[in-house]
Amino acid sequence: MPEPLSLLMIDSDAMHRQALRELLKEHEGLKVEAEAADPETGYRLVNQLKPSIVILELGNPPDPGLAVIERLLVASPQSTIFVTADGQRADTILRAVRAGAQEFLVRPVNKKDLLAAVQRIARQRSLAQLVTAEKGKVITLFGCKGGRGTTLITLNLAVALAKSFGQPVAAVDLDLQAGDLSLLFNLKPPYTIHDAVMNMDRVDTLFLKSLLCDHPSGVSLLAAPQRLEEADPIQPLRISQMLSLLKASFAYVVVDTAPTYDERTLAALDVTDTLLLVAAPDLSSLYHTQRCLDLFDRLAYDPEKVKLLLNRCPSPPGNATKTAQEILKCPVFWTFPEDEAVMTSLIAGKPLALGGKNSPLAAHFSALAARLDRRERSVPFPPHMEKRKDSVAAPSRGLLSLFRRKPFTIPQSQGEEG
Ligand SMILES: Nc1ncnc2c1ncn2[C@@H]1O[C@H](COP(=O)(O)OP(=O)(O)OP(=O)(O)O)[C@@H](O)[C@H]1O
Ligand SMILES: [Mg+2]
Repeated sequence: MPEPLSLLMIDSDAMHRQALRELLKEHEGLKVEAEAADPETGYRLVNQLKPSIVILELGNPPDPGLAVIERLLVASPQSTIFVTADGQRADTILRAVRAGAQEFLVRPVNKKDLLAAVQRIARQRSLAQLVTAEKGKVITLFGCKGGRGTTLITLNLAVALAKSFGQPVAAVDLDLQAGDLSLLFNLKPPYTIHDAVMNMDRVDTLFLKSLLCDHPSGVSLLAAPQRLEEADPIQPLRISQMLSLLKASFAYVVVDTAPTYDERTLAALDVTDTLLLVAAPDLSSLYHTQRCLDLFDRLAYDPEKVKLLLNRCPSPPGNATKTAQEILKCPVFWTFPEDEAVMTSLIAGKPLALGGKNSPLAAHFSALAARLDRRERSVPFPPHMEKRKDSVAAPSRGLLSLFRRKPFTIPQSQGEEG
């Protein structure tokens, strides 16, 4: 049974919106989710609702509307954009299609054209659902301050997922200018993300898989560009498309990112299923993590999608966890200890998750992998991650009062939800 289509309209003319609603009533299996009279409200709603179809008024001149198409597709790459415009100038149609619109409808929109366009999309979507029925999950690691262990955790989490569950796992190095996952995996990949993204127009899942470099652990790596200048032409939209395509072939796509808020990183975060936010228990890291959580609020990310990891914690981590939760008003999902074995494993080119003997950190990666694996819902937690049912009170004075996030209630115990 194909999923029903959801639709959102962005149109400054209330009468035209009403007319479209009337016409669309005829199409069973389609629901008009929302409408907006201006592009900004429309963008926010699209980001939040990820509708199947957006009908966007192009306006005259069309340039601002054309720019909106690209933004909408970055926020919701799965959406199909219909544009409506007065008249049908060939250059406007061409520019709309190049910006990513799939259907061009002349205003006032007539019923036959509109319903035929919706029908085409319904057919394409049911076909796509068949192809990608068994979809993977994108897990992205992001640290808002550099050097806090984001790459180390990406590397070992990918290995632990592959090792523990024998499922296909891809690691993607989206730290486009400073990525070093290939070094840490001890691989020399012949192709990189630059090759994948530059060929996106003709790439399919098989071709994309052939660009990845296999590691003995079972992880396939899509490495960061080899040359610095190769990062420049990589567009945000291409990144979302590439991650969506990888999801069709891999049970897990584990993504490493740079500690920056550029559009390419945000494009990846938008299509991410589980966003692991890496912080350390120092004041500077917590300060930047708080600003990052505020941004995620404004981007309307589901709080369930964002999980906070605290790296390089003292042992036991209780006080560090408590302070971080008080400051950030957000539950800590996982804590990792500081471990001297990290350096030895990196020099040996052997990820700790492959079996670091006498390493307190190594076991954390397989436990975290089990926690995140969809099939494992009842994995026991390390003892320090006990249930916390109480809400955390807002700090009242001192340095902590600089942090102004709203109080929160922990919905479930730390790490209990996957
Ligand atoms: N738990 C840990 N115990 C010991 N060393 C660690 C731990 N976590 C990270 N490190 C070390 O800290 C350094 C920084 O880690 P890493 O490169 O993973 O951070 P990053 O957040 O990805 O940094 P960047 O912003 O440069 O990408 C590395 O040398 C790494 O081995
Ligand atoms: Mg890094």
